[in-house]
Amino acid sequence: MKITMIGTGYVGLVSGTCLAEVGNHVLCLDTDAGKIARLQQGEVPIFEPGLEAMVRRNMAAGRLSFTTDVKAAAEFATMQFIAVGTPPDEDGSADLQYVLAAARGIAQHMTGFRVIVDKSTVPVGTADKVQAEIAATLQRRGSAHPFAVVSNPEFLKEGAAVEDFMRPDRIIVGASNEQAIALMRALYAPFQRNHERLVLTDVRSAELIKYAANAMLATRISFMNEMANLAERLGADIELVRRGIGSDPRIGYDFLYPGCGYGGSCFPKDVKALIRTAAIEAGIEMQVLKAVESANEAQKHVLAGKVRRRFGEDLHGRRFALWGLAFKPNTDDMREAPSRVLVADLLAAGAEIVAYDPVAMDEARRVLGAPSGLQFADSAMQAVEGADALLIATEWKEFRSPDFDTLRSTLRHPVIIDGRNLYDPALVRTLGLEYFPIGR
Ligand code: UDX
Repeated sequence: MKITMIGTGYVGLVSGTCLAEVGNHVLCLDTDAGKIARLQQGEVPIFEPGLEAMVRRNMAAGRLSFTTDVKAAAEFATMQFIAVGTPPDEDGSADLQYVLAAARGIAQHMTGFRVIVDKSTVPVGTADKVQAEIAATLQRRGSAHPFAVVSNPEFLKEGAAVEDFMRPDRIIVGASNEQAIALMRALYAPFQRNHERLVLTDVRSAELIKYAANAMLATRISFMNEMANLAERLGADIELVRRGIGSDPRIGYDFLYPGCGYGGSCFPKDVKALIRTAAIEAGIEMQVLKAVESANEAQKHVLAGKVRRRFGEDLHGRRFALWGLAFKPNTDDMREAPSRVLVADLLAAGAEIVAYDPVAMDEARRVLGAPSGLQFADSAMQAVEGADALLIATEWKEFRSPDFDTLRSTLRHPVIIDGRNLYDPALVRTLGLEYFPIGR
């Protein structure tokens, strides 16, 4: 099949490339000419395992190409995917201007029946707005081309995005038009394994499924973080509690890890947007989600709190090594990363920080700027030299089994404050280090 993918961010680029990988012809459109020029050279602007090789392979096979030409993109295919950004407004609601501009672009130039597929995470009711935008634009053109709008939210995780797209748990298709449904089924046939993955719903339910899934996952994390803070004070071990409750299949083991707060492009934004949509559109106060959000804000300050309890309120003259900046491993994404709050807290208290991240340091320099007191190291061990203590904000693999003897002899105080519970507390303490994990 032929597909137009509008937006070459995380969702658009991964979806477009994976759809090409199974034999479709995909044209990706973006308004950012610099980005398109780089992509045309086979350069992938994001760090995502396996993606660049897949992009190059499909470009070479003639199945994947890139353009800034809205008309060419609208003419190219019946299937028009919208995967542009929906950044939060100042008030927390999703900003739909890019989605609606994409819809307008399709409507201005479409030459026959089009299926417009919303892949961006958009509030409930957006498909109706897209529908209205296209209808109004067609009317201005004096054109009567038929079209259908479909909601097909994406559930990919950064760092595992290609795998998530190629082997989905479920494929949500919200649609009512029979022809559009048949086309979506055909398009996703290569991604079905063993049993049916496609869940067909109405459009609004599909839109809500995406938010409900992310809100549920964020809720699990805030719940576990709160439980961890309690366990710590009560002298219990959250790791044992996690295993104990996870063995109940109704709870399950996944996504129950306490830490220094959830970050990234999805959870914070989607929880906020859902609270906002509920209040504005439905007059409902989402009490659980408000608590999830404020618990997460508080959790991002937990590491700095541990530092202050160990080293005092005034951190002038102190220097801390910080391992991990990205909001999670296998990405360079710094959006809403807990490390940002930690860095701000420590600098405000007068400390110096020497940070190291295997992938995210360029991105960190870009988003943090160069505040005085913050430096970057070339390696994990270099960051530790001359530091009073080691702080950990991201669970990169290379941090999981450091040489503890070297750490002890290099640090000015043998202290590890670990926001990701990477180590066995008994082992680390036996080796002569003070260890402050989360909830144990
Ligand atoms: C998430 C959803 O998983 C994905 O389905 C959706 O489409 C987009 O949002 P992503 O933002 O890439 O994906 O990251 P994810 O791996 O889910 O982690 C989000 C945050 O939660 C990270 O900061 C991570 O450190 C934190 N987290 C995750 C925990 O603190 N504990 C956990 O047990 C799991």
